[in-house]
Amino acid sequence: MADVPARLEGIRAEAEAAIANAGTAAELEELRVLYTGRRAELTQTLRSIGELAPDQRGPVGKAANVVKQALEAKLAKRSEALEGYELERGLAEDTVDVTLPGDPPRPAGHLHLVTQTRREMEDIFVGLGFKVVEGPEVEFDYYNFTALNHPPDHPARMLQDTFYLSEEVLLRTHTSPMQVRSMEAQEPPIYIVVPGRVYRRDSDATHTPMFHQLEGLAIDEDITLADLRGVLLSFARAMFGPEREVRLRSGYFPFTEPSVEVDVSCFACEARGYLADGSRCGLCKGTAWIEILGAGMVDPNVLGFVTDSGYDPERVQGFAFGMGIDRIAMLKHGVPDLRLMFENDIRFLEQFGS
Ligand code: PHE
Repeated sequence: MADVPARLEGIRAEAEAAIANAGTAAELEELRVLYTGRRAELTQTLRSIGELAPDQRGPVGKAANVVKQALEAKLAKRSEALEGYELERGLAEDTVDVTLPGDPPRPAGHLHLVTQTRREMEDIFVGLGFKVVEGPEVEFDYYNFTALNHPPDHPARMLQDTFYLSEEVLLRTHTSPMQVRSMEAQEPPIYIVVPGRVYRRDSDATHTPMFHQLEGLAIDEDITLADLRGVLLSFARAMFGPEREVRLRSGYFPFTEPSVEVDVSCFACEARGYLADGSRCGLCKGTAWIEILGAGMVDPNVLGFVTDSGYDPERVQGFAFGMGIDRIAMLKHGVPDLRLMFENDIRFLEQFGS
């Protein structure tokens, strides 16, 4: 066994050369296992010292420990050097090229056309002194019909095809039930607009089972039909342009008397009825007027349901109006089919980015 120290010297020379050549931390780790790990010859030698002849133990043990310490020192030094190289290489190679284009911007969404239109309408009426309030979509027959002067079994209930949930409860067919609810909640004077969803059993290019309305109600002393006309003219001009005019035609609703249908002068043909090329205007169908809403003076019979809240029909009176928010949006933006509003086809929606 006299050649063991020489053998260890051989291992040391081989290991030191390999360590000096290791190019990466992973390679170095392999060498550490190979030369100083549990199964390495050096480690085995140290473990079996006890089995040697007594006079061998000292020299072999000493030689093995010297080699072990030398290798550990070389491994540590090489590891430090490699870390330094890798850091330098990283700094050199992984530089950020600030001239490269960044990630493409994420497409930002925007409000739905109906929401944009509702907000625009609300803003106009807030500017005229109205407050915005909302009410329930699931409504009592009482507020939707009875308190709006539809007697039981009156054929007017059939004017609007209703989704009934029970005999007493339904999906509101218009925002008008909020007239009576609001008057119950607050004494006169009252100036409110009520946007919201309404429901009717109807479905074609201009009717969907759900659509949106905006109701208006003004009750005070000395309110006349001229006030209604003035408010609607201001609205029409803010919404469709300063040149617009409005026209009131006689109409019928159970809860207003007199009732009117309101038209706005056509903004596609400047109220001529025909276009620059002489063809008939498609928007107003050549009539120069477009119907936009129903309105009227609140029927004293309706106030009769809220006299307890201070609405004495002998002392106060007012006007109400109701219009389709979706319809206003369609007219303003030339949308040909109401159903487009609710199909949420992105190709349609993205045309109305704000
Ligand atoms: N509620 C009516 C409708 O939906 C519109 C309207 C409201 C008419 C207020 C007069 C007064 O057709």
